Amino acid sequence: MKHFLTTEHWSQNDLQQMIDFAKELKEEKFQPLLKNKSVALLFFNPSLRTRTSFELGVHQLGGQAIVLQPGKDAWPIEFELGSIMDGEAEEHIQEVAQVLSAYCDIIAVRAFPKFQNWQDDRQDKLIKSLAQFSTVPVINMETITHPCQELAHIMALQENLGDLKGKKYVLTWTYHPKPLNTAVANSSLMIASKFGMDVTLLCPNEDYLLDQHYMDLGQTYSSQHGNQLTVSHDIDSAYEGADVVYAKSWGALPYFGQWEKEKPMRDQYKHFMVDEAKMAKTNNALFSHCLPMRRNVKATDGVVDSKNCIAIQEAENRLHVQKSMMNTLINHS
Ligand code: CP
Repeated sequence: MKHFLTTEHWSQNDLQQMIDFAKELKEEKFQPLLKNKSVALLFFNPSLRTRTSFELGVHQLGGQAIVLQPGKDAWPIEFELGSIMDGEAEEHIQEVAQVLSAYCDIIAVRAFPKFQNWQDDRQDKLIKSLAQFSTVPVINMETITHPCQELAHIMALQENLGDLKGKKYVLTWTYHPKPLNTAVANSSLMIASKFGMDVTLLCPNEDYLLDQHYMDLGQTYSSQHGNQLTVSHDIDSAYEGADVVYAKSWGALPYFGQWEKEKPMRDQYKHFMVDEAKMAKTNNALFSHCLPMRRNVKATDGVVDSKNCIAIQEAENRLHVQKSMMNTLINHS
């Protein structure tokens, strides 16, 4: 049985097959590929796109989705193995995984970091425990990576650019008033380099580098395609000649859990917002963002409303790629 926890566990060819079938599903939405199947969707955090696209996608494939929000409409869950459960949690992920496996054919989970201790959060314990004790495939709907977003992103880029190999891809940090998850940035780095793009990570300074694991993966995948992962703190040279600009904000890992100390530093970098002047330096680049996105903080109205912005197309593709991926997990594993 195979899970969809991170694209690290899937080859470029496997992922391409999912995207190719997603393109077919985009043309023919209703196919009974999950007939009589059920999918549990566990949300520890809010969502608009992920929840809608998964619920709708399961329905369009003839299955049934059940949404659970632990701590809200379902019991709070403990996931540390061996813990003494004398706090808020009423049940353990070991029972949750086995019970939901008995009812459902797939379990999907969204569980962001707790934002207190990166050494702890980077282990992604909740989803790993769920996968360990589940007897059905587990899907990552965003933890410390966001693999569903990766598929939708690559699909949208291929729809616009065709072959992605060698295209200059800029992942740019952008300002946000709060420290955000590094998941989409980790994912962007992994998937762009895995698909052979020439990746530049643009961020204000060394403190905004991503976790070494993802930096290393970005370099490893880049090397496999004869590329070099570039880190830049220079806006002008990073945007120069770019074919793709992907924007995301994230909190600086050295300050993880001490956000009041990071904020004065972060507030100096509001000028990383994607604007028309920066985009004018590119090779008529596509712009995208995973959404949700604060307009005129992360990117200007002019960029978001331009014909080069494919964020809505990427969001739509979430529906198609997730249906294709669930079909792979259920029918081809
Ligand atoms: N991009 C994304 O996952 O959106 P939601 O947080 O709304 O699900």
